Amino acid sequence: MTLTEATTTCRHFLSIADLSAEEIRAVLDAASAIRSGELRPDVAGRSLVLLLEKPSLRTRVSFELGMRKMGGHSLSMLPQEVGLGGREPPEDVARVLSRYADVIAARVNSHDTLVELANAADVPVINALSEIEHPCQILADLQAIREHFGRLEGLTIAFIGDGNNVAASLALGCALVGAEFRIASPAGYELPGDIVAQATRLAGQAGHAPQLLLKPENAVDGADVVYTDVWASMGQETEREQRTRDFRGYQVSPNLMELADPKAVFMHDLPAHEGEEISEGMLTHPQSIVFNQAENRMHAQAALIAMLLGAIPSA
Ligand code: CP
Ligand code: NVA
Repeated sequence: MTLTEATTTCRHFLSIADLSAEEIRAVLDAASAIRSGELRPDVAGRSLVLLLEKPSLRTRVSFELGMRKMGGHSLSMLPQEVGLGGREPPEDVARVLSRYADVIAARVNSHDTLVELANAADVPVINALSEIEHPCQILADLQAIREHFGRLEGLTIAFIGDGNNVAASLALGCALVGAEFRIASPAGYELPGDIVAQATRLAGQAGHAPQLLLKPENAVDGADVVYTDVWASMGQETEREQRTRDFRGYQVSPNLMELADPKAVFMHDLPAHEGEEISEGMLTHPQSIVFNQAENRMHAQAALIAMLLGAIPSA
């Protein structure tokens, strides 16, 4: 049992590794079927509460509209309205919300808050981003990659930049689905050791352990996917100037894309900063699938919620 795991028997989604490889495939199958209109899970009368301690565009809108499209309801609560851990302990918030709602999703400053919510909740708790992982993003990303290439196994995913929450979930997700994960980060910003160890374990003997590299050129060499994220995540605003200096040379540009496989795609979870982690125009570059990723947030989360609520089979 690690700090990031909840102890209740209720099924939670705090980490991408809370799903097995088979369950990820089932969620992605359902997500693509929802996207194409072949599947519309029915969660009529079920409701989701989204607790937000940080700003959001994609997460909030995709959860809210995704629930409505499946016939359910959703409600988003902003930090000043709930006061998680200030006005009321997370455990009490979870006990109360479990009496009103069928699913709780939370975007939190500290992953510990998610664990506290999950430990007291009688309904599934979904990680809508913590400082440690962003698993909903990675479900959408794996869906986008699989829809583009027709497979995930054997692909090489190169992440350029900070070994942050998005990189961590992507490393674990790649290990589970049999893709090779490489990350190039400046010294001091590497993927955390516990994530590397977990991804190595999940990949197993036949799979690929994450490769931690220094130079972006080495990471993207022949890669199928080039992925980047902001240099300063939410909550790291005071480090922004220092990080801008430290990450110089880690910008994804058309020149860097040329070192990847000619059929490679460019990915970013958004929001993005042109002139920092990406050069101008990268989001609309012909190789970009960034807006498919954003769209898939709605489909992948709908599939996940439907699975957690038993509205579709889990594998
Ligand atoms: N990618 C993502 O999670 O976007 P938001 O922060 O806007 O929700
Ligand atoms: N790493 C970013 C992701 C935003 C969706 C952050 O945590 O701010």
